[in-house]
Amino acid sequence: MPRLNSIAELEIHRAQVIERQKKQHKVISLCAGTGCEACGCKDVHIKFVQELNARNLSIPVKLTGCHGFCERGPIVIIRPANTIYFKVRPRDCAEIIETSIVGSGVVDRLCYTDENGKPLPDEHDVPFYKDQMRIVFGLNGLVDPMEIDDYIAQGGYSALAKVLSGMAPKEVIEEIKTSGLRGRGGGGFPTGRKWETCANAKGEKRFVICNADEGDPGAFMDRSILEGNPHSVLEGMLIAAYAIGSRDGFIYVRHEYPKAVRTFANALAQAGKYGLLGNNILGTDLSFEVGINRGGGAFVCGESTALMASLEGRVGEPRAKYIHTVEHGLYNLPSNLNNVETYATVPHIINNGADWFTKLGTKGSPGTKVFSLVGKVNNTGLIEVPMGITLREIIYGIGGGIQKNKAFKAVQTGGPSGGLLPEGMLDLPVDFDKLWDAGSMMGSGGMIVIDENSCVVNIARFFLNFLKDESCGKCIPCREGIRYMMDILERIERGEGKMEDIDTLEEMAHTVADTSLCGLGSSAPNPVLSSLTYFKDEYIAHIQDKKCPAGICKELIQYLIIPELCNGCDVCAKLCPTKAITGKKDEVHVIDTKLCEKCGACLESCPSEAIVRR
Ligand SMILES: Cc1cc2nc3c(=O)[nH]c(=O)nc-3n(C[C@H](O)[C@H](O)[C@H](O)COP(=O)(O)O)c2cc1C
Ligand code: FES
Repeated sequence: MPRLNSIAELEIHRAQVIERQKKQHKVISLCAGTGCEACGCKDVHIKFVQELNARNLSIPVKLTGCHGFCERGPIVIIRPANTIYFKVRPRDCAEIIETSIVGSGVVDRLCYTDENGKPLPDEHDVPFYKDQMRIVFGLNGLVDPMEIDDYIAQGGYSALAKVLSGMAPKEVIEEIKTSGLRGRGGGGFPTGRKWETCANAKGEKRFVICNADEGDPGAFMDRSILEGNPHSVLEGMLIAAYAIGSRDGFIYVRHEYPKAVRTFANALAQAGKYGLLGNNILGTDLSFEVGINRGGGAFVCGESTALMASLEGRVGEPRAKYIHTVEHGLYNLPSNLNNVETYATVPHIINNGADWFTKLGTKGSPGTKVFSLVGKVNNTGLIEVPMGITLREIIYGIGGGIQKNKAFKAVQTGGPSGGLLPEGMLDLPVDFDKLWDAGSMMGSGGMIVIDENSCVVNIARFFLNFLKDESCGKCIPCREGIRYMMDILERIERGEGKMEDIDTLEEMAHTVADTSLCGLGSSAPNPVLSSLTYFKDEYIAHIQDKKCPAGICKELIQYLIIPELCNGCDVCAKLCPTKAITGKKDEVHVIDTKLCEKCGACLESCPSEAIVRR
């Protein structure tokens, strides 16, 4: 690998790589993200290589990062036609090669089909992708994350070259400020202002830190960016380093992300060899190194002050917010901490200009946001959309509606510390401020869709339980308050709640939110408060009527057999683990509710739908 000693050498190298790539008239892109890997993409890769070799075809099989629609993996895209195939198995490889590589046709049976069964071979026609705006995520699926030249061919490191060749650090900060970029890690703090304060802070050195702790259950946006396009994050960090005058960077990666660590470490090694890291980057005065630090898997370590304590080798506990980490951060020195997605957005802003960025999204929240869309929607996966898109467009458009045509009940935005929003809010434009005003938040982009068969009391308890376990226990309101709220919710779920409990819950929630030391405690009550705002009737049903409207809370439900529908097939009786179901074959069966443990096995198995849950 050559060391690139100037911006001119980078541009010459880029032209050579593009020229080389032009010679590949077709490329098989295979998603090797963690989701597709779990669905067997490694075997598909082996088979493609074998089949291509058998035909003496020198067609590259490019292993890319996550393409978003993980639920339908392994995903294969034939470029440049952009023919996209889902759920590809090794047995499909020969047919794909014959049809789409040797020929220029399409294997219809592997395509996404519309509601009329018509195959949609072009990636851009598939509803999941059609309404997205993939900027940060745009290169996942195009580049091999282990190959720096792939990133360079797509314009990689041109933003760094731009700032190094013609922009003063102050101008870079001004550009980011004008773009209105707000941090994607949760709080939505203006990135440019953070950079400016850090640049102006006093200290013999300063740090650029990337927060890749991503503790929200169900969220995998940061992991997928690091695994699929690590150089974009590194380029963002380099630009930040130039802007604030730093030589030292760290990335703090969650312990459970070994693949992200591998791709990022490889990116660091390759960038180092090219002279894009280390001393005198591209022959300029900029020198910068990045160390990788693996977190221990504690949610609270994502909080900025806890993360820095952990980086120093101390216990990852937060400290009071009035001391700002931009001035007194890591080792008490000025430190700029941003999220993975925030850094990955920076090169796009520099390349396209702040005005371009402000035209995307909404006035208060420009740009796009990556969400992990999970739960009871048909199309689950990672999506990137412009801010301001409505919840309905996300859930019913991109998400393809609710599984099994069930009714929508709520969506939890902002991860475990976010809020539950009801059907009446489906037309809410999604941005930092609108979500906040609705009693929820953007968080880092977790979006969990809940259908009519989910109980909001149970869900609020579930998230609170997660936060109770993850509280570091340093401050009393968070440590004791969350536990106390949990006790009340558990009582309500058991049908032992009292109406006064609702007032106590509300009071406790406000106290915990107002008095906790860090963001974990102050946002923990959100699921409870939002569910009380929008679904108080469900709490009342549990307390007054001793009923769980969704039929979830075990102590409040009963399984019954409707005699007119029972055909006496005996399937339920055979399955019942407690022998609570009796009846002769071909005769009506009954459930002894005292013996029934409410596991639901009978309901699932009954072929004549004679069993109901009430
Ligand atoms: C309990 C808790 C956990 C957090 N976890 C993360 C995380 O995993 N990743 C992240 O980027 N920010 C996380 N944050 C937010 C960070 O403290 C910080 O605001 C953010 O990383 C700053 O980057 P940004 O300005 O680019 O958003 C968390 C905050 C709290 C209170
Ligand atoms: S891992 Fe392949 S689409 Fe997400």
